[in-house]
Amino acid sequence: MTPATASAIDVRLDFPVLERVVHGKRLVYLDSAATSQKPRSVIDAMDSYYRRSNANVHRGVYQLAEEATELFEGARKRVAAFCGWEEATTIFTRNATEALNLVAYAWGRPNLGQGDEVLITEMEHHSNIVPWQLLCAERGARLRYLRVTDEGLLDLDELDAVLAEGRVKLLSVAHVSNVLGTINPVADIVARGRAAGAVTVVDGSQAVPQLPFQVSDVDADFYAWTGHKALGPTGIGVLHGRRELLESMPPFLGGGDMIKRVDFAESTWNDLPWKFEAGTSAIAEGVGLGAAVDYLAALGMDSVRAHERDLTAYALEQLAAIPGLRVLGPRDVDGRGGVVSFEVEGIHPHDLAELCDREAVCIRAGHHCAQPLMRRLGVSATARASFHVYNTHEDVDALVAALLKARKIFGL
Ligand SMILES: Cc1ncc(COP(=O)(O)O)c(C=O)c1O
Repeated sequence: MTPATASAIDVRLDFPVLERVVHGKRLVYLDSAATSQKPRSVIDAMDSYYRRSNANVHRGVYQLAEEATELFEGARKRVAAFCGWEEATTIFTRNATEALNLVAYAWGRPNLGQGDEVLITEMEHHSNIVPWQLLCAERGARLRYLRVTDEGLLDLDELDAVLAEGRVKLLSVAHVSNVLGTINPVADIVARGRAAGAVTVVDGSQAVPQLPFQVSDVDADFYAWTGHKALGPTGIGVLHGRRELLESMPPFLGGGDMIKRVDFAESTWNDLPWKFEAGTSAIAEGVGLGAAVDYLAALGMDSVRAHERDLTAYALEQLAAIPGLRVLGPRDVDGRGGVVSFEVEGIHPHDLAELCDREAVCIRAGHHCAQPLMRRLGVSATARASFHVYNTHEDVDALVAALLKARKIFGL
């Protein structure tokens, strides 16, 4: 499993789904920004949990329940260590969407009012837009967007100018764009937001799977991400939060596990992180996510990043040779993650994706849950190829061949 060199990661055999043949051809999976494939170690960890250790966590005194609790809390410990964040303030959620909603409801509702502003950017995923729209509508606050430049970058002078107006109470930004691939300078953005008195939130859904960094270095008040894009299962996400804020916030959801004591009229809350984990947790999924971060840690995130950078550079070079193809996002490969969105003149992205599927090449087409960004870019949809550790230059070659064939079919 361990790569000899960064650019020679060869882990395809660890991913059982990649053995599949589709339409008589080798499966080429280029949609990891939507969800990543899962290594055998993740599948096995979940399988073994259900076969050997399934019980509810935190409550049982019998061995099986203690084992399940150890597996689940052990996973949290490893996820927290992987991200460089304290265990008690590493909260398991269903996904990034729920993590962001948790902040909007539990921090936003008590703290936001008339005249206050929430500042996000034009490149956000709907998960980092809609919770703030709901919050602002309820609290009478204003939602503002930082512009995205034509090259797909944020303008930090504009950020400073908006912050200087003094009304931004919360600033939320994607670490890596799921459409443009842009790697935003989040530590700098967070520092500017904090200096202006704003609470800072980072959506790290596309960053944790591919970048070597510690969440503590970004130092946002809240950092949200989702397990299924980081080689983990669906149904589990993470919110890393600053202790003082989490302690001052009311719970997000009420129910079992999040209480210390329940009386007829009122209740008191459990310690962190369980105060924000109402109901039975996604136990097997937590165990699976623990195995996923172990897998990534064993590869080494520097190697993961080097591999994705190499693939992205190769893809940008190869795609540039296709007539009528336009790539969106930053031109500098060091400023972008393993996501390449593009258009081919004369072919709708949905047709492109369908024709690629005939060649067993899975790419995504559509608005990528970023409709405001599509509007800003003046497009209704794009095609998107995205990479992870199991992709190779041959996968990019298969994409290029499928796109050239699509052009032929369209008589271009
Ligand atoms: C940047 C970004 N944020 C948030 C999400 C939402 O992730 P989830 O649906 O797992 O909550 C995604 C998923 O595509 C994403 O790419």
